[in-house]
Amino acid sequence: MSKVTVVGAGNVGATVANVLAHRDFVKEIVLVDIKAEMAQGKALDTWQQAPIDGYSTRLMGTDDYKYTDGSDIVVITAGLPRKPGMTRDDLITTNAGIVNAVTDAIMSHSKNPIIIVVSNPLDVMTYAAFKKSGLSGQRVFGMAGVLDTARYRAFLAAELNVSPKDIQALLMGGHGDSMVPMPRYTTVSGIPVTELLAQDKLQAIIERTKYGGGELVKLMGTSAWYAPGAAAAQMVEAILKDEQRIFPCCVHLEGQYGLDNVFVGVPVKLGKNGIEQVLELKLEETEQNLLNQSATEVRSMMEVYDKLA
Ligand code: NAI
Ligand code: 2OP
Repeated sequence: MSKVTVVGAGNVGATVANVLAHRDFVKEIVLVDIKAEMAQGKALDTWQQAPIDGYSTRLMGTDDYKYTDGSDIVVITAGLPRKPGMTRDDLITTNAGIVNAVTDAIMSHSKNPIIIVVSNPLDVMTYAAFKKSGLSGQRVFGMAGVLDTARYRAFLAAELNVSPKDIQALLMGGHGDSMVPMPRYTTVSGIPVTELLAQDKLQAIIERTKYGGGELVKLMGTSAWYAPGAAAAQMVEAILKDEQRIFPCCVHLEGQYGLDNVFVGVPVKLGKNGIEQVLELKLEETEQNLLNQSATEVRSMMEVYDKLA
């Protein structure tokens, strides 16, 4: 049994806690927010749902990091969400300050946690937590690929009128408009999607996926939370249950794919040690070029962060 801290009890953080509680394998969840009462309220509300939905996970909300002592996993969702007209990169200065402070506080209470970053701009905030924590890249990584791939799978399922459960897919690269779709790794129960869907329809779905976050910001005036929260919870589950599941995650590359010291999304195996393995696929030239381009964009944002620090 294990302890999970979720920092940021806003839309995404509260959803991570609620989804995890429903899965009923975590002993304790601590929701931390500068708005202590809101964190307490959301933890209490989810605890009061336990008798109805049947789970035993205990929850508490606080603004005091002493309660996070000895966390196995910390999910960082603290920060501003994107508002209409803002790019993820507009958020960098404000959210870097928040993620730096949160990481310092976490590290003074947990010796060797695994940190999953959700705050945007995702790739750069993951870099911030990596640098601040001093943990290895195996233990600090970001959630984006699970969400982006879920959006892609959901759009495909609707178009093909099949269950989303039967769509397997992979997206790589940064969390943003430069994400790299991989249609040759997209299948419907093993059937290549290209045998079921015309090229122009597939392309339209890929384009919609790239701007999937923005579509929801436009509809709701703030960014999404149900799928993002569930995506981060799925990563926590894979780690705590040592499932060795393969997901695209934003990780520190150290030479893989010809890229060094940059955070981008690639397929990895998740287990009890965090990133158990980075899977290195043999990319086609166009795919590698898109990945390089995405890495260049992330790197320029990492340089902005380095100048702030
Ligand atoms: P929200 O505004 O609902 O919640 C953010 C929470 O962070 C607020 O409750 C706020 O009080 C708290 N907070 C701010 N500074 C803090 C600090 N220093 N310490 C502790 N808590 C602090 O925002 P939402 O919708 O939950 O989004 C959170 C972040 O996640 C945003 O940066 C958003 O862009 C990002 N996001 C990332 C996704 C991804 O795919 N990686 C998907 C969806 C959202
Ligand atoms: C999303 O993709 C805004 O990153 C956030 O929904």
